[in-house]
Amino acid sequence: MSRRIGVFPGSFDPVHNGHLDLIERARRLFDVFYIAVLFNDQKQALFSVEERIDLLRDLVGDSDDCRVESFSGLLVDYAREKGATAVIRGLRSGADFDYELPMTLMNRRLAPGIDTIFLLPAPEWIYLSSRLTKEVGSLEGDLTGIAPPLVIEALHRKHGWN
Ligand code: PNS
Repeated sequence: MSRRIGVFPGSFDPVHNGHLDLIERARRLFDVFYIAVLFNDQKQALFSVEERIDLLRDLVGDSDDCRVESFSGLLVDYAREKGATAVIRGLRSGADFDYELPMTLMNRRLAPGIDTIFLLPAPEWIYLSSRLTKEVGSLEGDLTGIAPPLVIEALHRKHGWN
């Protein structure tokens, strides 16, 4: 039987508990699961791609069945190169759906053999986003229970607090 290969793409700037919840759910569905961090020099990010990858690797590991990599260019090209048949995206709300729909349909047009699978995080993470995590972190707010301690420490270091 052929191996089920999936890709979970994103900016992960930085990874938070909602992402980790989705990663746990999604990796069970695949024999090989790629967490793919977008390298995009047009997009202003707080953490470099290397920093984001290091955080993800420290948190979820980097093994033969769950790899953390960066990608640039078209997502479907990366997914094809990996032999993936599915892309995983998280859905928290109708606004997410509106954002995802055109990308999903474009990706399907570009690569009809690759489907997008949407997963819902656990309800306690539904309001989380990297943007809010960064904002609260930059204002010295308490991120306990929102992001793992490793990420909170990385945010503190970014802002020169330790
Ligand atoms: O975490 P994000 O920022 O919502 O992730 C967005 C991402 C990385 C999935 C999206 O920007 C993407 O796929 N970029 C790669 C470029 C691409 O394939 N563009 C065409 C999509 S229709």
